[in-house]
Parts: sequence; structure tokens; C-alpha cells
Amino acid sequence: MIHTSSTVCTPSVTDVPRHIAIIMDGNGRWAESRHLPRVSGHIKGLEAVRAIIGACATQGTAFLTLFAFSSENWRRPVDEVSFLMHLFISALEREILHLHTNDIRLRVVGDLSMFESRTQELIYHAEVKTAGNTGLTLTIAANYGGRWDILQATRKIAQQCIDGNSTIQNVNESSFAQHLAMAYAPEPDLFIRTGGEQRVSNFLLWQLAYTEFYFTRVFWPEFNDAELSKAIAAYRKRERRFGRTSAQLTQKLKNVDLISC
Ligand code: IPE
Ligand code: IPE
Ligand code: MG
Repeated sequence: MIHTSSTVCTPSVTDVPRHIAIIMDGNGRWAESRHLPRVSGHIKGLEAVRAIIGACATQGTAFLTLFAFSSENWRRPVDEVSFLMHLFISALEREILHLHTNDIRLRVVGDLSMFESRTQELIYHAEVKTAGNTGLTLTIAANYGGRWDILQATRKIAQQCIDGNSTIQNVNESSFAQHLAMAYAPEPDLFIRTGGEQRVSNFLLWQLAYTEFYFTRVFWPEFNDAELSKAIAAYRKRERRFGRTSAQLTQKLKNVDLISC
């Protein structure tokens, strides 16, 4: 299914967000506030990941995208980076059956060429195994960067033009978005960042154009079902205008024709 661009036409708005994207931040500070090593925050954070996947699957969210490791996170101390890699691999190995049994489709996006070949194979097999599942699509962003994503799409399009398979005139927002790593998903309806920071940190730069933002000071290891419900309640209060006026939305409810997707 090809998803339309929110800047090309106005998407429909649902009560439960179809796509939730989360920056799971605050693991280190959660641990430090308890005089624990930072890595224990990452271990605890994995428990929150399990809980939120379950909650999203239950409430009927179609797409959940979790930022697990950014293209800038390599700048961290070597020990922390290798711990995060180890945790990612072991979680993948341990959880895949559980995800599969729960009809969850797993995708991993990011520059995977930086990972060991064994890890790349593990990801590939996990994706293939769950490809036919029709429940929640869980995307893990690993070594992901929004700028990397836009650049890799640009390179593919440029190559198509060079090869004579496309022309510059054919490049538009919809065709461009089809080359992004998450072309299979609609743009996020709701973006959540835990841990108190209010920034995007090179996450889904293209796709967040019309996403609703929700920031909470709660550290990721303490983010649970109840916190997710708060975020969704806040989301429901938003008026998603996509450039239109409030009055136009009211008219739409009265069945006045407006161009939409
Ligand atoms: C998020 O928590 C996890 C990753 C970035 C992998 P942090 O490790 O960034 O935690 P803080 O921000 O230092 O508290
Ligand atoms: C963003 O968190 C990346 C992930 C959650 C994986 P960071 O904690 O690395 O973000 P910055 O560097 O503080 O913006
Ligand atoms: Mg952080």
C-alpha cells in the first residue's frame, strides 16, 4: 500500500493514532538517579519496550516505531555502545518468537551496513519470519538518522535518473517518500519523547512534517500503559488542521466537501 503525503493531501484523523513514533530517552538518567550504572537503565528500558508494544497491539495502533540507536549514538563511550549492541541482539534473539506468536510484523530501519554480518542476518531472518503478520507493525530504528534516510532516498532517485528509469520531472513528494526507509508506513500521527528533552535528535525528519508532538519528563524505564494513555488523551485534544482553518474542519463535519486523501 502506498501512503499519501500529508503535505500533498490531508490525511484522515482517527481517535487512536495509527502510527506512534517514540524517542525512548532517559534510560541513563533513570539509572543515575538511583546510583546505578547507566546500562541498568537500558536493561530496565527494555521492559518498558515490551509493555508499550503490548499496549499498542491491544489498542489497535497499526504502526509503532521506536528509536533504539541513533546515527550519533556511536559517539558514546565504547563500553556503552557495545552494551547497547549486545542488548539489541539478545533482545532480538529472545523476543522474535513472542512477537511472531502475537502476529507482530517486525521491521528494522537504519544504516545496517555498520552492523556485524551476524547481526544483519539475524535482522533479515526476523523480518522474513514476521513479514506475513497482520497485527502491529513494529519498527526499530537502529543506527538510524533522518538525514541519512533523506540522503539514501536521494541517491536512489538520482541513480534512477542516471539509468534512464526516471526523470527529474517525475520526482515529487509522493515519489520521493517511496524511497524512504519507512515507505511501508503512513507518516506518524503521534510523536512521543520521554526524558524531558524537547528535540527531534535527527529522528524521522521528513515524516514528522505534520505529526503531533508530545513531550514528557518521565524517564523511558518508567513509561508505561498509563503514561501512554495520557499521551493519547493529549493527542485526542489536538485539532489537526493540516493548514486549514478551524472553521473549515467544523464545516467538514457538516459534510461540506473538502479535498482529502
Ligand atoms: C535513551 O536513553 C537510550 C539510547 C539513546 C540508546 P539515554 O541513554 O539517552 O538516557 P539519558 O538521556 O542519558 O538519560
Ligand atoms: C535519541 O536519544 C536517540 C535514541 C533514543 C535512540 P539521545 O539521548 O541520544 O538524544 P540527544 O543526543 O540527547 O539529543
Ligand atoms: Mg538521552
